[in-house]
Amino acid sequence: MSRLPRTLLYLVFAVILLSGSFPVGEPAIGVNWGTISFHRLKPSTVVDLLKDNKIKKVKLFDADPDALTALVGSGIEVMVGIPNEMLAALSSSTDASDLWVRQNVSRYVFKGGADIRYVAVGNEPFLTSYSGQFQSFVVPALLNLQQSLVKANLAGYVKLVVPCNADAYESSLPSQGAFRPELSQIMTQLVSFLNSNGSPFVVNIYPFLSLYGNSDFPQDYAFFEGSSHPVTDGSNVYYNAFDGNFDTLVSALNKLGYGQMPIVIGEVGWPTDGAVGANLTAARFFNQGLINHVLSNKGTPLRPGFPPMDIYLFSLLDEGAKSVLPGNFERHWGIFSFDGQAKYALNLGLGNRLLKNAKNIEYLPSRWCVADPFKDLTNVANHLRIACSVADCTTLDYGGSCNGIGAKGNISYAFNSYYQLQMQNAQSCDFDGLGMVTFLDPSVGDCRFLVGVTDHKKSLAFRPTHRKTTIWISILWWMWFFLMS
Ligand SMILES: *[C@@H]1O[C@H](CO)[C@@H](O)[C@H](O)[C@H]1NC(C)=O
Ligand SMILES: *[C@@H]1O[C@H](CO)[C@@H](O)[C@H](O)[C@H]1NC(C)=O
Ligand SMILES: *[C@@H]1O[C@H](CO)[C@@H](O)[C@H](O)[C@H]1NC(C)=O
Repeated sequence: MSRLPRTLLYLVFAVILLSGSFPVGEPAIGVNWGTISFHRLKPSTVVDLLKDNKIKKVKLFDADPDALTALVGSGIEVMVGIPNEMLAALSSSTDASDLWVRQNVSRYVFKGGADIRYVAVGNEPFLTSYSGQFQSFVVPALLNLQQSLVKANLAGYVKLVVPCNADAYESSLPSQGAFRPELSQIMTQLVSFLNSNGSPFVVNIYPFLSLYGNSDFPQDYAFFEGSSHPVTDGSNVYYNAFDGNFDTLVSALNKLGYGQMPIVIGEVGWPTDGAVGANLTAARFFNQGLINHVLSNKGTPLRPGFPPMDIYLFSLLDEGAKSVLPGNFERHWGIFSFDGQAKYALNLGLGNRLLKNAKNIEYLPSRWCVADPFKDLTNVANHLRIACSVADCTTLDYGGSCNGIGAKGNISYAFNSYYQLQMQNAQSCDFDGLGMVTFLDPSVGDCRFLVGVTDHKKSLAFRPTHRKTTIWISILWWMWFFLMS
């Protein structure tokens, strides 16, 4: 190496050292592990899935003892969560925060225990649709919990953070970013708290929702392959929504005097079902583009060379019991289906070229509930409504993977979802004699009729079925289905 480049190298190094508090190093790819599912995998199966995929960071939405126990000794870094509903109690009493820390952090943090590194205090507590009901509790809860961590001797190791939705800030141009006016006092207190404790700002960014909620949104701007509609902001040009959103936050932090604060992406991802723009191809395109972009260390125009510190993909698994208030896609964010099977090819940049499926899944027996082809189904509407009000039928709607399977297919799909939810209890396939159990997989094309997994929290009560006759009826049903479709 000649002298000049070496001097330059030192210079660059010195500039990086002097440039403030940016964390130097590769961003890490982690995942969110949500559990609002009808068919929950054993926590140890999920932890094995994380390990097999070399995922070293996981974010939870609570402090579920089963999940944390399964994470003990795994070496995986954990962010535990405090639901918004608990913030009021934690903000009003240090006894409550002491107890929370004892029960949900201290208990697991020991040599060889669960490596809890962050506590997420609330989940998007400033979301506009909550109309401010949680926001006044956030800072007081943080202060109480910090005191409790200090008492427990964990304050140096476990950091408090507050995952915010990107609706906490706004602007048409990234350089003009500012927090919502009504949050300005809270945000000032929050970022000053984060800064004094060495915590990052955690934000959830969803280009999918921008596309879903706005028909004028240029589709290619949601992805990472360049855009025919770039956003020009002074001398900076933005080619994707993610960077634009990230820099809007950087500007908002900068206005409060914390333009250097490390940023972690708490949630980012793309759903695969339940809406027109939600499909396997788009999800793969987005997530792979995102991972490659972040791992390239290019950063954004306002933070060149400094990508987010960590990103947590949303989500690890589909959660079929989530509220569909935001849209049917809400149950389909997983890079894995509910049973830990990879939905598409994805290189997480962690060492494996492809996702590895969960192993040793304990499925219920291979049987499904479908509409009996020999019955008059004219009065089925009520059964359908009830089945779909408790079980998941979101793939049947417009934009879903089962939308084209016809009226009878719809009925069978709903019957089966309900039957699996009821752990294949024989009576749950009755529907006043309109349902029947089949041993032949009724899945059609991309439309998957699921088989549940054994839920370790419920006891299973199987009733013997008349297997031979059912097989015959199954075959007849199957033939009929094909003749009719
Ligand atoms: C610990 O966390 C769990 C799960 O989030 C919660 O149910 C429990 O109430 C927490 N403990 C305390 C003392 O708040
Ligand atoms: C998948 O979604 C993308 C946009 O998110 C859309 O452009 C594409 O047409 C969709 N593909 C299918 C097969 O629906
Ligand atoms: C099947 O159900 C979905 C969702 O309710 C509906 O959009 C679709 O039109 C139904 N198909 C038929 C053929 O009735």
